[in-house]
Amino acid sequence: MVAMEIEHIRVFEIRLPQGAELPMHSHPPWAIVAINSWCRHGGQSGWLRSPIMDAWDTITSRRQVRSFTSDPIPKRDLDRILEAGRRAPSSRNGQRWDFVVVSDKGQLDRLSQVWQGASWIAASAATIALVVSQAEGDEALIDRLDLGQAAMQMMIAATGLGIGSGQAVCRDQALAQEVLGFPDGKQCALLIALGYPVDRPLKPIQNPSRRDFDEVVHFGTW
Ligand SMILES: Cc1cc2nc3c(=O)[nH]c(=O)nc-3n(C[C@H](O)[C@H](O)[C@H](O)COP(=O)(O)O)c2cc1C
Repeated sequence: MVAMEIEHIRVFEIRLPQGAELPMHSHPPWAIVAINSWCRHGGQSGWLRSPIMDAWDTITSRRQVRSFTSDPIPKRDLDRILEAGRRAPSSRNGQRWDFVVVSDKGQLDRLSQVWQGASWIAASAATIALVVSQAEGDEALIDRLDLGQAAMQMMIAATGLGIGSGQAVCRDQALAQEVLGFPDGKQCALLIALGYPVDRPLKPIQNPSRRDFDEVVHFGTW
């Protein structure tokens, strides 16, 4: 083992035989910190395929990330994030969604102009556009519920890999269609920008900015 210091955390280089993965249960807490920290710093070494985070830590570590390092996302990690979206549940298993992945800088620059609240996606390593049919009434409502599940599943998968995600709505549909090339009758419902966070690694947030548990949760009746 070789040790080095990254942000006051001692990170151990663990060399595994090619293709090998450590069994989840064998990780003591320090290893989880070390692996997550390593992945935050590029995640490109290939020594470990992914950081190990349990479900709760992954959920509590996800946050809206709007600034990204210039590190690209390894293809296998991007594919895993997309696969997480593909596996999402949907009403009657309709799966009425398509995912358009953009990593070209010119495309990202243009896509970041779909509305002022999406400008930061220009610096993402990749952005996934969630495309859905233009629908109305109940169908539109169901589509949004389905898309929300696919979106969250992708963001959770990203978090588990130490990859930051940030979502933005898409206002200028004409521009989005020009950049993404989706057919008429479709629309871009949401953009999920991905990349390694600039500010700090993803780790469980102790006090999230949320309404109080007792205010939100009603047991039995309201
Ligand atoms: C449907 C949806 C649309 C959003 N659109 C934007 C957006 O256009 N621009 C943006 O900066 N943040 C956007 N956000 C991010 C929210 O502002 C953010 O998730 C919220 O403030 C909670 O912060 P957290 O994700 O860090 O917990 C969106 C979130 C959701 C769920």
